[in-house]
Amino acid sequence: LPLEGLQSGGAGPLYLKLRQSLEEAILSGKLNHGDALPPERDLADYANISRVTVRKAVDDLVRDGLLVRRHGSGTFVVRPVSRVEQSLSRLTSFTEDMARRGLNTRAEWLERGLFHPSPDEMMTLGLPADALVTRLGRLRIADDMPLAIERASVSAEFLPDPLAVTSSLYAALDETRARPVRAVQRISACNIKDPDASMLGVAVGAAGLSIERVSYLASGRVVEFTRSLYRGDAYDFVAELTLSE
Ligand code: GLP
Repeated sequence: LPLEGLQSGGAGPLYLKLRQSLEEAILSGKLNHGDALPPERDLADYANISRVTVRKAVDDLVRDGLLVRRHGSGTFVVRPVSRVEQSLSRLTSFTEDMARRGLNTRAEWLERGLFHPSPDEMMTLGLPADALVTRLGRLRIADDMPLAIERASVSAEFLPDPLAVTSSLYAALDETRARPVRAVQRISACNIKDPDASMLGVAVGAAGLSIERVSYLASGRVVEFTRSLYRGDAYDFVAELTLSE
């Protein structure tokens, strides 16, 4: 961290100078999303300033959402994402959406396997109790920024091998000729709680969008039931509206 010379360089309150150099380090990527900030005591010793000054600068950055304090584990860097504009009327996959913006996606798997359906899944997917569903739980990451947590359920009839999904669910459904052609999506506001907040690297209580998608084949069969949690600071949903007759 570029903390030397804070005392000598330029006029203005020390805490503002510290704040600015931390902010620059975060925005330039010198500090990464999720990195732990050294303890305030160490920062104070290192920059040869008082702990009160460090506390004030850190408080400012917490208020502006560039740092987040986690009880018992410290203070962590939050790199703001550039917001993603997402059409509300096109049925696309996360991987495709990100690729179109030149971003690489990867997943951290939270769950991937075959299960007996829950009552919810039986209802939504239209399955009997003795059927099997492929469940895929993923933390979805674009260019190293975690953007969403998604939990998808697909009838094993359409996706018998959970391990066939290496990165994109829709690419795997292309292979089994079960890619959906229509979907109904419900978006609601929420506050992100732990453990989701720490997986997404945002403060507990940060704004989120909870999104449910049920998608269909041309035959009318349900293919996918997905519950997602998106970072509220990362998405703008856009729809074109027309006057109905
Ligand atoms: C979006 C949707 C999900 C869908 C996913 C498929 O994220 N919210 O309902 O399952 O796209 O994306 P991919 O093919 O990259 O797994």
